[in-house]
Amino acid sequence: MIIDGGPRKNFNTASMLQKFAEGASSMGEEIEVKTVRLYGTDYKGCMSCMACKIKGRASNVCKYKDALTPILEDIAQADGLVLGSPIYFGDITGQMRAFLERLAFPWLSYNDYSLTAPKRMPVVLMITMNGTPERNNNSGYGSMEHCIAAALGEPQHIIAYNTYQVKNYANFELAGFSETAKRQYRDEHWEQDLQRAYDAGRSMAENILKSL
Ligand SMILES: Cc1cc2nc3c(=O)[nH]c(=O)nc-3n(C[C@H](O)[C@H](O)[C@H](O)COP(=O)(O)O)c2cc1C
Repeated sequence: MIIDGGPRKNFNTASMLQKFAEGASSMGEEIEVKTVRLYGTDYKGCMSCMACKIKGRASNVCKYKDALTPILEDIAQADGLVLGSPIYFGDITGQMRAFLERLAFPWLSYNDYSLTAPKRMPVVLMITMNGTPERNNNSGYGSMEHCIAAALGEPQHIIAYNTYQVKNYANFELAGFSETAKRQYRDEHWEQDLQRAYDAGRSMAENILKSL
């Protein structure tokens, strides 16, 4: 399952996730890849309905019914999970955060504070951003990292730095960026970033096939 937490259909995050999907699919027909675009899905974050914590009927899959319900049910059955988000103001997007509230709150037991998903699985956390390895403000998946690691397993991280935010910098008020420096960084890194995403897809699919 690939969850795209970015709004733009053909830009950086979507391209990285697409490469991951291609890598995974290249391992054979047994591998089924499903990509969900959160910005095309009508849902809210955790509604605090507490239905997942009702005595005798507690559930580690969210019980609130909306367009996210079948997606969360699919993840509960999946063999691997990939989350992708651009960095907005140092964080994952609001849409990704809202999704993660719905995914992770049912995992959390208020009896003993353990975190238990229906199933453990390999996880890749992907982010793309303007920042560079040397200078960035990102806190990635932040407090959700701990929940993901505890409930699903230690995640692999894939980061694409210093992405192209627009196709043509000359058309926008973006004087804080040097297009020449951006282009140089992209020429040196973007293909490698895509290749890392592709390889991670192949590797996850390979491990899944081995575990069957
Ligand atoms: C609202 C907004 C806030 C952003 N905030 C940051 C930020 O805090 N740090 C950063 O490095 N990049 C920031 N960016 C840049 C994006 O993270 C970067 O361009 C990303 O690769 C965009 O992904 P996309 O092409 O998939 O939309 C921001 C972009 C937007 C639109």
